[in-house]
Amino acid sequence: MPHCLTHQFSLPPLPYVCEDYHFLFEVQKTSNPKESLIFVRFKDYEFFLRKRFRERKGDYILKCEKISSSLPTGIIKGAIRILAQFNSPYLITHNLNNDSLRQTLQSPYLKKISDFLDFCTPFELEIGFGSGRHILQKAQKNPNMLFVGIELHTPSIEQVLRQIELLGLQNLWIVNFDARIFLELIPSNLARAIYLHFPVPWGKKPHRRVWSERFVKESMRVLSCGSRLELRSDDEDYFSYALEVALQEKTLQMQVGKNLCGEVVSKYEERWRKQEKNIYDLFLTSLQDSPPKPQYPTFDFPKPREDIWGSFDTISKKIIGQDFFLHIDSFYTHQSQCVVMLSFGDFNQPQSKFLLISKDEMHYIGGNPLPTQASFKAHQELVKLLG
Ligand SMILES: C[S@@+](CC[C@H](N)C(=O)[O-])C[C@H]1O[C@@H](n2cnc3c(N)ncnc32)[C@H](O)[C@@H]1O
Repeated sequence: MPHCLTHQFSLPPLPYVCEDYHFLFEVQKTSNPKESLIFVRFKDYEFFLRKRFRERKGDYILKCEKISSSLPTGIIKGAIRILAQFNSPYLITHNLNNDSLRQTLQSPYLKKISDFLDFCTPFELEIGFGSGRHILQKAQKNPNMLFVGIELHTPSIEQVLRQIELLGLQNLWIVNFDARIFLELIPSNLARAIYLHFPVPWGKKPHRRVWSERFVKESMRVLSCGSRLELRSDDEDYFSYALEVALQEKTLQMQVGKNLCGEVVSKYEERWRKQEKNIYDLFLTSLQDSPPKPQYPTFDFPKPREDIWGSFDTISKKIIGQDFFLHIDSFYTHQSQCVVMLSFGDFNQPQSKFLLISKDEMHYIGGNPLPTQASFKAHQELVKLLG
């Protein structure tokens, strides 16, 4: 994580513009004035740097606020570097060298979730592609089909993006996101296959599993009639669990296999084969086209309540619904600006956001939350609290 440490820290008068970076305002944490957020805009990106005085070490640390940390590292480093230079007499150490704006996760083949919300091109999806061996070979062999790979592990993503460029592939897109949320957001009947090969079984933390009743339901919605969801696993317990969950679904066609030879042998499959482990297959075929995905209303806010500035202490900080939650983590203020740090949405797949409140309006920083059912319910509660 890019950061710098200083003995003292001061900011230039804000707003301050330098090399396309706009440092717009600073807000202090109401529960700890030694911590603050600095709002930065760089081209289309908006993010916060977090400044904190570390009592025990007697120094200041400046780093990217973790909600913004999915931004390209080069962009974050650029912003920290400018403020580190401003404080150069007090600089203790930093890790801001040798990079460019292109550093980390910049490629025309790396797509955002928002690229898929109104998408209409059919594609095959691989969830958790790891080394990418399976999806790269599939894309090479089927140049007329679009392949989408979704993965959480950044080094795997970087490796596959490099391979896409080396192989000159035009039909493989990568998304860095949780597949469970992704599935909920994409239109119905678009996928021509979903591959889930050797998912982490999460024996002790089942809530982290990709496979669930909801996952199977969403997969069947997203798959076109006749297309299939393919699970391969070396873990017998996970396989039994997956089978049990699949049996809850009302209509689908199911095929079960053991030690079948797939078209492409993934890295994990190769490992388990060498160890002579059993490999289990579960193929679920969608038998009908699904209705369009429900559209949720927009994430609008009314004008903030007039007494809002004096009522932060009394506002309820946690709301737990049947299938969603809203947690107000902290407030940051300065003059007429207030920033609220929030987490909300689904219990197992929470989202985090900052809300900016000024005298006349409220809005989410960096765009609205992802339009899932749980985040919309949480938004409605927030409107009741603040509006
Ligand atoms: C055990 S590896 C299997 C890799 C590859 N499929 C293979 O067969 O070699 C599981 C992969 O799933 C990814 N993963 C786990 N949970 C995920 C999620 N919710 N969304 C997307 N990817 C996920 C992990 O980062 C990891 O790379």
